[in-house]
Amino acid sequence: MKHLIDPTDLTREETDEIIALALDIIANRAAYRDSLKYHKLATLFYEPSTRTRLSFTAAMMELGGEVLGFSDARNSSVSKGETVADTVRVVDKFADIIAMRHSLEGAPYVASRFSRVPVINAGDGSHAHPTQTLTDLLTITRELGGIDGITIGFCGDLKFGRTVHSLIKALGRYSNVKVILIAPDELRLPDYIKHDVCDRQGIDYREVATIEEVIGELDVLYMTRVQKERFLDEEEFNRVKDSFVLDSSRLVGAKAKMAILHPLPRVNEIAQDVDLDPRAAYFRQVENGKFVRMALIYSLIKWKDDPLHTMPAHEEYFKDATLHCHNSKCISTNEGVEPLFHRTDEGLVRCAYCDAHLFIA
Ligand code: NCD
Repeated sequence: MKHLIDPTDLTREETDEIIALALDIIANRAAYRDSLKYHKLATLFYEPSTRTRLSFTAAMMELGGEVLGFSDARNSSVSKGETVADTVRVVDKFADIIAMRHSLEGAPYVASRFSRVPVINAGDGSHAHPTQTLTDLLTITRELGGIDGITIGFCGDLKFGRTVHSLIKALGRYSNVKVILIAPDELRLPDYIKHDVCDRQGIDYREVATIEEVIGELDVLYMTRVQKERFLDEEEFNRVKDSFVLDSSRLVGAKAKMAILHPLPRVNEIAQDVDLDPRAAYFRQVENGKFVRMALIYSLIKWKDDPLHTMPAHEEYFKDATLHCHNSKCISTNEGVEPLFHRTDEGLVRCAYCDAHLFIA
């Protein structure tokens, strides 16, 4: 069975297939109206969300299916102490596919290990957000005609922004993509993405301090919100919260066809005057999210018993009862799950649930 926990759970071919299906859905919406009639999607949202949950709901409804679930874990058995593993073994009796958002990193991965139906990660902590990645890939394809060869600048909170982590992972599959990282020191991209993803996949990346010095090079400017809820220290948040604000004056010198993306919600990082600029693609991006989720739900249900569509083997994962992840936001430090690790090319040991580096004496 195929789940979508990390963007690289889909092969490049499967990703292309989903993007192509989304484009076909856009062109022939009526043809898909009843394609998932009598099917049910469960949305298990343990963390606040507006657009992602509504986007999943709208996507399933447009395919003729039904939606059940919760948008606040306080109203579910979780408040009685039920684990993710148990919840999913109950919900898979009621639904054909599950979309889960959780503040604990690795929670959807745990769900996928227990579920009889496909599980989609709708965002886990600061870790990953693969359906936003599909949204972003579809948006870049529609705005620019393709992904190969683009130069993309990521601006804002590159440390906690899970949409950034997942999109960079996926971009390693395309040719000649250049990544420019624009962030204050406190919000730089985590090392595991720089080393295990960029270096390993040969992604050309560099870090700069201002938008102005690179604006003329960019095909895509990917703005992000500073993730207030992920800071352990409010003073640190206050220091960096206004680091980058994009207004029309900063677009002087940008390419005429540059696309401005943002996963939304925005706070103040894009001034409203930019909304009128034809390059502002973020509200078109929202609609692309619905189309790509239609394509994803449809594909995962169709692929369910197809041996050609399975999860990556992860042969490098190993168990070790003497090791423990120290990330307080990891599912493995909060619920009794089997400790599971992998070793990087440089010999570092990382948690298989959240990718945190284990400092081993
Ligand atoms: C993002 C998320 O939840 O990670 N939003 C989204 O899914 N569209 C970005 C954010 O919250 O800043």
